[in-house]
Amino acid sequence: MSIPAIKTENLRKEFGTQAAVKGLTLQVEQGEVFGFLGPNGAGKTTSIKMLLGLVAPTSGTGALLGAPLGDRAALARIGFLPEHFRFQEWLTANEFLELHGELLGMDSRSLYLRRDELLERVGLIEFRHKQLRTFSKGMLQRIGLAQALMNHPALVFLDEPTSGLGPCWAQACA
Ligand SMILES: Nc1ncnc2c1ncn2[C@@H]1O[C@H](COP(=O)(O)OP(=O)(O)OP(=O)(O)O)[C@@H](O)[C@H]1O
Ligand SMILES: [Mg+2]
Repeated sequence: MSIPAIKTENLRKEFGTQAAVKGLTLQVEQGEVFGFLGPNGAGKTTSIKMLLGLVAPTSGTGALLGAPLGDRAALARIGFLPEHFRFQEWLTANEFLELHGELLGMDSRSLYLRRDELLERVGLIEFRHKQLRTFSKGMLQRIGLAQALMNHPALVFLDEPTSGLGPCWAQACA
């Protein structure tokens, strides 16, 4: 039996007197695609942020890829597309992916290879020299998806992955 990708036990988050997540117990196996559905304000984003070590749980425990929440070695193996990405809009698509590759500690050869592979994959190769401030909402979402996959992550968190995407894009349109 392999180590679960995600495991939580009674994770809870309170903001002041309000409980945003009321005891999340969950196990997701490696190789599984797990969709997290719920009404607005249900606590989906807060749960993801707790798993990523961005929000401290009020109580409960969890593990990613067998390591306790917040473990830096495990986080280096993870990709993340935030719900509200603060893009560095003055960068070109190329520069944006290069920056994230550098932040991930990738060597320049694999970084450039992966950058080009992902720009192709999300259908933005022809816009590689354009600044992100000129991108439409869906184009920003696609470059955000590429960013989340830069480090060949073992586990990817996509918060609202289809937001802004058209019905048909990249290879799906070919
Ligand atoms: N930093 C914060 N401070 C105070 N309250 C917060 C904070 N972040 C989230 N909340 C509250 O926690 C609850 C859960 O919010 P969260 O963003 O996790 O919901 P969600 O399920 O992702 O919603 P949506 O579908 O709209 O993205 C909401 O009531 C929200 O107002
Ligand atoms: Mg959300």
